[in-house]
Amino acid sequence: MRSYSLIAPAKINLYLEIIGDRPDGYHELAMILQSIDLADQIDLHAASTEAIRVYCNHPQVPTDNSNLAYRAAALMAKQFPDAFNNFGGMDITVKKRIPVAAGLAGGSTNAAAVLVGIDLLWNLGLTKSELEELGAQLGSDVPFCVSGGTVIATGRGEQLSPLTSLNNIYIVLAKYHSLEVSTAWAYKTYRQVFGSTYIKNTEDLAARASAVHSGEIVKAILDKDAAEISRKMHNDLEKVVLPAYPQVLQLRELFASQEGVLGTMMSGSGPSVFAIVESKAQAEVVKERIRSAIPDEDLELFVTRTIATGIQILK
Ligand code: C5P
Repeated sequence: MRSYSLIAPAKINLYLEIIGDRPDGYHELAMILQSIDLADQIDLHAASTEAIRVYCNHPQVPTDNSNLAYRAAALMAKQFPDAFNNFGGMDITVKKRIPVAAGLAGGSTNAAAVLVGIDLLWNLGLTKSELEELGAQLGSDVPFCVSGGTVIATGRGEQLSPLTSLNNIYIVLAKYHSLEVSTAWAYKTYRQVFGSTYIKNTEDLAARASAVHSGEIVKAILDKDAAEISRKMHNDLEKVVLPAYPQVLQLRELFASQEGVLGTMMSGSGPSVFAIVESKAQAEVVKERIRSAIPDEDLELFVTRTIATGIQILK
């Protein structure tokens, strides 16, 4: 086939704990990542030239070599030069629905879709773990996005342990369209505020990372208990993002005060905030109440649900 269309779902963080600093400048994390059905569509078309071109319907998304989807294609061309010479370049079209710079892994899931799509386009037959290894070179969340689902992610976020699939938990998601939080800023500020916590002892690090595997939220996930999951959610980055962005704090508090909301949390480095609710009907009610309380056109609101899959091939 000379073209593929792929669905690239967003993620939310049910849990994000910063364990310590790493010598490479990143942070050692313990996270629980969850795919949701809010998704972009990626179309890949083989081109007759060697060029890799990116098109996107969203004006804020760059289409040059800073775009993660472009970088994923360039990485594949570098890793598999024979296939690139044989098959040539491609046009990558990103139909964006996932809010950008939102803490929802929008760019990372686009990159994961390009890796999966080129593997098909060039008949490479790569394994899931080979795709994840390539993904880790592009960004910390890309490996997760390949297969998605409900996953404990440790290390930089690239070491993955899948949990039971958590389907059809309804979520209301909110993001101010024009508000962006830089992930690098959030981690840097956390380090400045809470001090350096460089962990030298790798055994200590492994023990602390593995503690999340036996933690209460994992038990709640294995029990598929949405109310208990909601009570045990946590995100260390809220400690720096909420004080700096009063709009995000306000959204968080507004969600928490709504009837039918089981729990609310910022996703990743923000600024999107999500609420777990009891049902689809309740999600629609909560969404409308938030819309009435904040009648600002800049506020984007979505009803979405948890899903058990990452990148899916449409055709
Ligand atoms: O890996 P990715 O490019 O998505 O990370 C964006 C930024 O977030 C990094 O440049 C780094 O500043 C910060 N980060 C971190 N520790 C992680 C993941 C990301 O400090 N585990």
